[in-house]
Amino acid sequence: MDSTQSLEQLESEMLAAVAAAAGLDSLESLRIAALGRKGSLTERMKALGGLPADQRRAAGQALNRLKTTVEQAIDARRSSLAAADLEARLVQEAIDVTLPARPQPAGRLHPVSQTVDECVAIFGEMGFTVAEGPDIENDFRNFTALNIPPEHPARQMHDTFYLPERDDGSRLLLRTHTSPVQIRTMQSQEPPIRVIAPGRTYRCDSDATHTPMFHQVEALVVDETTHLGHLKGCIIDFCRAFFELPDLPVRFRPSHFPFTEPSMEVDIGCTRSRGELKIGGDDWLEIMGSGMVHPNVLRAGGVDPDRYQGFAFGMGIDRIAMLKYGIPDLRTFFEADLRWLHHYGFLPLAVPSLVRGL
Ligand code: PHE
Repeated sequence: MDSTQSLEQLESEMLAAVAAAAGLDSLESLRIAALGRKGSLTERMKALGGLPADQRRAAGQALNRLKTTVEQAIDARRSSLAAADLEARLVQEAIDVTLPARPQPAGRLHPVSQTVDECVAIFGEMGFTVAEGPDIENDFRNFTALNIPPEHPARQMHDTFYLPERDDGSRLLLRTHTSPVQIRTMQSQEPPIRVIAPGRTYRCDSDATHTPMFHQVEALVVDETTHLGHLKGCIIDFCRAFFELPDLPVRFRPSHFPFTEPSMEVDIGCTRSRGELKIGGDDWLEIMGSGMVHPNVLRAGGVDPDRYQGFAFGMGIDRIAMLKYGIPDLRTFFEADLRWLHHYGFLPLAVPSLVRGL
């Protein structure tokens, strides 16, 4: 075998081995065996020096050609092995994006939650923050501080649930309205005050429009120049935004609450026909109580009535939810009937806002 033939043989062996390499690792071993520092081709290169001068040039060129051929074969094989590797990974890690989308979440937001969120959105836009108080209150904040002294007839009208008498003879109670949060707020923050207080309230009463537990939202504004015009503007804007009727008629009717002076009940326009009630129209429907905060109440909250005045109002959340969403019986709100909730409930991710709609 002369040296040219042996190179041809070497070439075909090497190319066959490269073509047969099953993975990137074995290909790399092949490369080292041929072209590494002690590789077979490298050794041959080194041996060139021992050849007679007249053969060296031709043998060198032949070896270089072989080296290039082998290198190219290895590079080509490496790319195709890498591509095959990637292909295999893509197949293995494939995600079937054609799967059907998940069904709508089955849960619904209760109309009371939705209505609270709507109130927070509307009053939030007007600069109110949300205040809170506990369901269990003392007699002072639920009554006395609100200008309803013991023996005042208004106490009877509240059908209060009392807790058992304590050692000192006092009794805690389930708050009969959210107005005690007025006192808590005035005691804990300096004017200017602008808060709403949504929450549970309790009265011993039950029929189609009354449940022993129900919800109210209270509003309180206290500042140096707060006046009746602010009260009216605030309530009118709220009613029109909440019922989504920009020209909804709103009427203020003189009334009486111990904790406000003057006091007004607020009526909105409605239409009654064949036992059905619609919001908007020239009949009237009462929806809340309101008034300028009584000086005695400001004083009980630690606010100086000679410097500050305020307005407050309170309304039944369940009631305005029934009106807005046409729910006929209040008792169904608290029956935890999933079919009812599915019918009257709201999609949890459709968060109400004035910009996107309530
Ligand atoms: N607390 C009153 C009620 O429960 C509502 C109200 C709140 C009236 C604030 C005037 C001012 O009926």
